[in-house]
Amino acid sequence: MPANEGIAGWVIETGSPYLADNVRRDTRWSKRVAQELHYKTRDILAVPLQAGGETLGVIEVINKKNGQPFEQADLNILNALSSHIAMIIGNARLFLAAENKVHQLATLTELSAILNSSLDPKQVRTRAMQAAVKLLDCETGSLYLIDHDRGELYFEVALGDKGDVFKEIRLKLGEGIAGWVAQEGQSLLIPDCSRDPRWSSKADKKSKFQTRNMVTVPVKAKSKVIGVLQAINKRPPKLFDEEDLRLLEALADQVAIALENARLYEAQRLTFLQTAEALAAAIEKRDIYTGGHTKRVRDYCMATARYLKLTPGETEWLELAAILHDVGKIGVDDQVLRKPGKLTDEEFAQIRAHPTIGYEILNHIRTLQEVIPGMRHHHERPDGKGYPDGLADGKIPFLARIIAVADTYDAMTSDRPYRQGLSDEAAISELRKFSGVQFDETVVEAFLQAHAAGLILSQHRRSSSPGNESAS
Ligand SMILES: [Fe+2]
Ligand SMILES: [Fe+2]
Repeated sequence: MPANEGIAGWVIETGSPYLADNVRRDTRWSKRVAQELHYKTRDILAVPLQAGGETLGVIEVINKKNGQPFEQADLNILNALSSHIAMIIGNARLFLAAENKVHQLATLTELSAILNSSLDPKQVRTRAMQAAVKLLDCETGSLYLIDHDRGELYFEVALGDKGDVFKEIRLKLGEGIAGWVAQEGQSLLIPDCSRDPRWSSKADKKSKFQTRNMVTVPVKAKSKVIGVLQAINKRPPKLFDEEDLRLLEALADQVAIALENARLYEAQRLTFLQTAEALAAAIEKRDIYTGGHTKRVRDYCMATARYLKLTPGETEWLELAAILHDVGKIGVDDQVLRKPGKLTDEEFAQIRAHPTIGYEILNHIRTLQEVIPGMRHHHERPDGKGYPDGLADGKIPFLARIIAVADTYDAMTSDRPYRQGLSDEAAISELRKFSGVQFDETVVEAFLQAHAAGLILSQHRRSSSPGNESAS
């Protein structure tokens, strides 16, 4: 019933007690409520429930049992009871509010830890949205990032059953509520989006979602707005309040830290990778006959890795190890490296030293410790006849076994001034023939799968594309 209806409504409005017999003659009485209750109301005694100057409710008693009207003594008893009840309800509310706050802070701490446990930008973005939804108990959340070059905000919406298809939505800075928040750097609490002139239905139309209400806060890194975090549609019957706004702001600070960490890590990783590439390219320049070898070995390794159960971390190490696998050739004489004909035993020994030289060069770099075994052992063979250590089977580091297959396949299929490279078919049949002897069986299996999928493009396969037939 409305808070101003009937006797109870009057008590709430005035804050006064009510004592009357034959209430049916009182115009304030609500016949409707009595009818709904199927109760014959005669007399009513009602007092307000008040705590801390706030009216929490009304206690109403109806029809004294012995048929007598209520009297002053009854009112006194009810008043005393009411102040006790009000105190208990007030305490319970404070307790619930405190408990709720503790719970929210615990959730915030937990979510921050999850957010900051990843350095993958995509994962951080997904987790930020999930965290907003969990923390504010709402239907969905979005994280817009600012593209400063284009003066736009963008975000990805997951589509499809598995949520694995992504669609990008872009807004101009200043457009819509997110655009406003990005431009002004201020938070907004919107109880009803359709009534806010700043609201743009563009994102809703693209994502096929109906936005009713939202809390939107800026994500700032070093006081610069880098994005906008939104919590959308509080689960009914609740509505977003100031408390939600402050919570989301606290989460946005954590999101900013996680995004910055991921960005810095990515930048550092790229610098690292590019430095390694530059080093490999410098060495390759000396060996004019094997141009592009490092890049192809890296490509073959990455293609093969798709058919092996490697963790994302191992895949990253593999890539770096593939780039650096022949770094030790820097210590091999030019005449030996460039010699077109057959090598003498002594020259061959020099070539065979390149994994050890590479090891000596890289060994003191602490961040490369996971990369070194893949580089050092890329010429080992399962039958133990490889070098430099003659390791066999399972003793050979796994990344080295992958590089070995990619490396040999490229050596077989590349032309040299003194001999023509094998055809693609011939090289593949060599891999099959020596699988388990010269090459790791699991790796060969994965390599063949990648090859069948068209992911291994040897020099012959590349050049036999239409219009370039003569090269084969
Ligand atoms: Fe090598
Ligand atoms: Fe190589």
